[in-house]
Amino acid sequence: MKKFMFLVLLGIGIWSGCSKDSTTSSYTPTCDGTVKSYKNNVAPIIQSACAGCHQNYSSYSNLFASRNSVRSAIVSGNMPRSGSLTTAQKDAIACWVDNGAPNN
Ligand code: HEC
Repeated sequence: MKKFMFLVLLGIGIWSGCSKDSTTSSYTPTCDGTVKSYKNNVAPIIQSACAGCHQNYSSYSNLFASRNSVRSAIVSGNMPRSGSLTTAQKDAIACWVDNGAPNN
């Protein structure tokens, strides 16, 4: 019986692991060395792709406070929940965070 439960749990694990593949894909951001601007590069992406659900990210200080989870949610492909970001958009946000997320 224990063995059966183990197989069931394993099956669920494999199933949910695979079913996530279509929506989430990890990637490594490419930063070209230019400093991304919060105002010109980051804020417009957040505004159009995230703020509809995460109103709080519209403010720099809130976004700054959440920068690490925002970065990993984007890099993992977990967010945005609806729609998607281009690689250039993901790069802009990830590289901006890697740069210390300046208010520039
Ligand atoms: C359609 C609505 C929607 C959009 C658009 C959206 N989110 Fe979310 N987000 C959610 C919901 C709902 C949760 C909480 C529950 C969960 O994580 O499943 C969440 C959770 C999060 C979290 C918490 C940790 C995590 O990874 O779960 C972060 C960080 C996040 N979102 C960042 C973003 C960013 C950055 C964007 C834009 C690129 C974005 N979200 C776009 C609905 C959305």
